[in-house]
Amino acid sequence: MSQSIETRDLTRIFKGKSETVKALNKVSLSIGEKEVFGLLGPNGAGKTTFIKILTTLLLPTSGEAHVDGFNVVKEADKVRKIISLVSGGETPGYGILSVRENLWFFSQLYGLSSAVAKEKIKGLMADLDFEEYANTRMAKLSTGYRQRLNLARGLLSDPKILFLDEPTLGLDVLTAKKLRSYIVDWAKKEAKGTVLLTTHYMAEADEMCDRVAIIDQGRILACGSPNTLKENLKENQIMKVETASIQADFGFIDKMVGVIGYSQTRNIQTGTTTLKIMVSDDEIFSKIMSELEKAKLKILAVNKTEPTLEDVYISLVGRGFEEGEAGTHA
Ligand SMILES: Nc1ncnc2c1ncn2[C@@H]1O[C@H](COP(=O)(O)OP(=O)(O)OP(=O)(O)O)[C@@H](O)[C@H]1O
Ligand SMILES: [Mg+2]
Repeated sequence: MSQSIETRDLTRIFKGKSETVKALNKVSLSIGEKEVFGLLGPNGAGKTTFIKILTTLLLPTSGEAHVDGFNVVKEADKVRKIISLVSGGETPGYGILSVRENLWFFSQLYGLSSAVAKEKIKGLMADLDFEEYANTRMAKLSTGYRQRLNLARGLLSDPKILFLDEPTLGLDVLTAKKLRSYIVDWAKKEAKGTVLLTTHYMAEADEMCDRVAIIDQGRILACGSPNTLKENLKENQIMKVETASIQADFGFIDKMVGVIGYSQTRNIQTGTTTLKIMVSDDEIFSKIMSELEKAKLKILAVNKTEPTLEDVYISLVGRGFEEGEAGTHA
């Protein structure tokens, strides 16, 4: 398989007045043609920085990156011709233009002939299920429909490589699902459709990606298919504990011998905190449970769970990364 994207020791440093941030730290990745590849990591991990360098919007500090064989610094114009970038939450065009007019505008920027443009716009609006909004001003669209338009805009130019920065940010469960399956189908049916997406939704990475790289503080911590990454955890035990408290400090769990890591998700609506604790052997659980009882915490449920990509992250970093309030995302 030839490589669509290749980076070697890609590093990006941001120098501020008071502090220096290493947004990317020697990232070396190789992504093949027709792969759907996910970069999974918490806020500030370096995901957008990686995408910006590959899409020629930002220069690397050191290291190299090639897209479809072209050097992103020295051959930026060639790279731009074969890629599209779609960012979740961005406003894709002109608010006063209708959906169809916006797509038409971009088709002309991309140099499509009238006949081809018309056909493509019609097809994309049908495939992404937003024909009924064709004549609606973009400014009036909901986030989900705006994002469909955004994706359609990205696909108009028939890119070889599609970069998606948080493609389902803030979308409802059904819309997110629809866009995910559309993107995966696109990659599979195009002769050379490679997708590099970033996300901080574990389930999204798991559902969509052939391979996932877990990134944290600019470093790649692990890379592989979701199944391989999860298989590697099989010797550990993972327990989910639901407690009737949203204020308790669970920091003691981390300090116990045999605990590999844990995450906590608070749900303000139900007043509960769900802990996911990973341990190297079963016995440590009874100790954790007695500590929780000592702290007078009411335990609502205890379940053993199969590993997810979040557990892979916990095993690498010792904490979860969707911590805090339970999200409403898919
Ligand atoms: N233009 C900039 N100037 C200074 N620092 C920056 C700049 N862009 C990004 N950073 C810093 O680089 C790090 C990585 O940021 P980046 O936006 O790549 O993260 P991310 O993984 O996309 O996060 P998020 O999930 O929040 O989108 C962060 O610490 C961020 O503050
Ligand atoms: Mg980002």
